[in-house]
Amino acid sequence: MTNKIYNFFPLTILKSKIDLANTTKDLMIKRIFDMEKNSKNKFYKNEKSSWTGDTQGFEFLHKNNEFDDFFLEVKKKILEYLEVIGIDHNLLDFYIQRSWATISRGKENIAQHKHLQSHLSFAYYLKKDSTDANLLLIDEIKQNEFLPGSFLSPTISQKGLIKKRNISNTAAIIVEAQEDEIVIFPSKTLHQTQPEVNNNERISLSADIFITSKNSENLEHLVTPFKEWKNF
Ligand SMILES: [Fe+2]
Repeated sequence: MTNKIYNFFPLTILKSKIDLANTTKDLMIKRIFDMEKNSKNKFYKNEKSSWTGDTQGFEFLHKNNEFDDFFLEVKKKILEYLEVIGIDHNLLDFYIQRSWATISRGKENIAQHKHLQSHLSFAYYLKKDSTDANLLLIDEIKQNEFLPGSFLSPTISQKGLIKKRNISNTAAIIVEAQEDEIVIFPSKTLHQTQPEVNNNERISLSADIFITSKNSENLEHLVTPFKEWKNF
């Protein structure tokens, strides 16, 4: 009998294309450069880090109606992601709690982080050359890493201990994407942008999407509906 191999417990990412009119995209790009000019926290950015709008006073892109077409398309993609996971979106309400742009020039990058106050996040490439940096996802759980530290160890890589990278021994993955593409992932996923890659003024948009139940009756584990909350 031949061996049977099972790969359980995946991380599921959705990549898809969003078609926006060029005039809409141009206007969004113009607004983002306006935001950059009006940065409110200039010292936060250093020469190696990307400009991130949410740290510069511009964390509510969704309140600007010039971004409405974009967010309408995002909602469709989020529902498609839920469909893949097998979740009934009819029982849920969706909120954008924060949305922002990033601009990367030269080798500027965004360091490792996760969005723990949110449920689903995305990166959408409003302006991107094919050689610009991509999103890099890091697996913190590493179910198969029975040799601790081995999957991301440079010296283990150099020695060739891991003969060939495959889904069973990879803990960091680059999600290659083109302009107009969106990459949706669980907000708790550790991520960054590819370091040491030259960017020709790449612009991405991101948002944190928060999900509540529509009706929390007999439902223990979701966030209750906002309309039931009380500010006290
Ligand atoms: Fe992020």
